[in-house]
Amino acid sequence: MLVAPSILSCDFGNLARDVKAICEGGCDFVHVDVMDGHFVPNLTIGPVVVEAVAKAATKPLDIHLMVENNTFFVDLFAPIKPGFISFHIEEEKHPHRLIQKIRGLGIRPAIVLNPHTRPESIEYLLEDLDMVLLMSVNPGFGGQKFIPSVLEKVKRMKDLIEKRNPKCLIEVDGGVNNENVQDLKRAGVDVVVAGSYVFKHHSIPEAINSLKC
Ligand code: DX5
Ligand code: ZN
Repeated sequence: MLVAPSILSCDFGNLARDVKAICEGGCDFVHVDVMDGHFVPNLTIGPVVVEAVAKAATKPLDIHLMVENNTFFVDLFAPIKPGFISFHIEEEKHPHRLIQKIRGLGIRPAIVLNPHTRPESIEYLLEDLDMVLLMSVNPGFGGQKFIPSVLEKVKRMKDLIEKRNPKCLIEVDGGVNNENVQDLKRAGVDVVVAGSYVFKHHSIPEAINSLKC
């Protein structure tokens, strides 16, 4: 299992220290939640702060856009050269075009599905994607409870991925901890995002290690 701690739950007064701690603690990606106050009822960080995250990080950034105008935000964050940019399918009229744009910028494209969105809705995009992110909470806040139906959804997504693009990763985001990570692994998940579990743990390396299964 690859682990992408979400810095949404870090101490923003000690941002560089916490980003270094997760990278030295063995994370695979640094998950960055970008919220615009429109697509979700919360507002987080823009390119100035994400630039500081990138400077402190020794692992690729995994930028999760929760915004209304995806193309604008892709252009804003592209110069930071993140590993991945993911955007919500619920908020994009031309997902195929945006995937090509992200890849053309040298960034790995990913699509995010809210808890209610059907895996089949992105079936014909899978061959162009490097990762699919399934939300296991409603996007907007850290520290929410895991929605168990995502386990069945991961299995359905995995079947489609096997058929269309077996190299595409499945990532799950929200309410992930050491108690549900095994079930996620068995269902077919490759990458877990974890915010509050990692940053509330007494030891960041131990927390990350407990998710690697
Ligand atoms: C929620 C964000 C998540 C969040 C996860 O909208 O996308 O990345 O930080 O936090 P936890 O792990 O606390 O549910
Ligand atoms: Zn996220």
